[in-house]
Amino acid sequence: MASPIGVFDSGIGGLTVFRSIVEQLPGYDYIYLGDNGRSPYGNRSFKTIHQYTWECVQWMFKQGCPLVILACNTASAKALRTIQQQDLPKSHPDKRVLGVIRPTAEVIGNYTTSKQIGVLGTTGTVQSGSYLLEIEHFAPALKVYQQACPLWVPLIESGEHDKPGADYYVQLYLDQLMQQSPDIDTVLLACTHYPLLYNKIKAHLPGHIKVVSQGDIVAASLVDYLQRHAGIEQVLTKTGNRKFYTTMDDVMNFDHNASVFLGNEIKSEFVDVREC
Ligand code: DGL
Repeated sequence: MASPIGVFDSGIGGLTVFRSIVEQLPGYDYIYLGDNGRSPYGNRSFKTIHQYTWECVQWMFKQGCPLVILACNTASAKALRTIQQQDLPKSHPDKRVLGVIRPTAEVIGNYTTSKQIGVLGTTGTVQSGSYLLEIEHFAPALKVYQQACPLWVPLIESGEHDKPGADYYVQLYLDQLMQQSPDIDTVLLACTHYPLLYNKIKAHLPGHIKVVSQGDIVAASLVDYLQRHAGIEQVLTKTGNRKFYTTMDDVMNFDHNASVFLGNEIKSEFVDVREC
């Protein structure tokens, strides 16, 4: 049986991380699961996000994944700790689940000169305060300004992000962020969907501001993790196989968006993770 690396997101956003991971670690087998049928997660409660995320993670375990990456900030902020500290020890002590917030917080200080950064995320990620805590831990000298962008994920999931109407909502939240401090010189896209708006975000910000996506950061951190965890690395199968699954019964939208984004034809399968 294959032992792929699992990459999970509430929808298509995790593909921005998936793409970087596959670029940096091409030999492994992968399963991508988007919970598009229940996205967005951004304004749901802790309890619901944990329930949805854990259902998806268990489904990926059933497919043989020894390691699952939560390529979703909202799930990392609201479900990862419970999964790592309670669920895994109780029912899957041999499996591993990693998130995206810690690896990002570890390096974000390297990007800024002014020591003032803006963090753009879902309402859930912003309200959880996870970035404030993690950045305080790894880079206490940084001043962090947060801005929730609740309409961006729905725009992206519905395929409207590259249409002219999206500009209004991009500007709306960026203006609200920059009003908090004119000295922000680095903007972190702390939602894995947001790199799909990268060009519009860049165009609306002053030219000197760096816009940082997480894909390469998370991928580099996974490379490092696998080097340090031979027990997990050795059980992962390496035939270069990739499979895509979505909880949306109409897979056409996922397939279209994923194919455009990844640059090759993606055919996903519908799954009902609630059967787990
Ligand atoms: N890609 C998810 C994240 O990184 C989006 C969450 C949502 O579904 O709202 O936060």
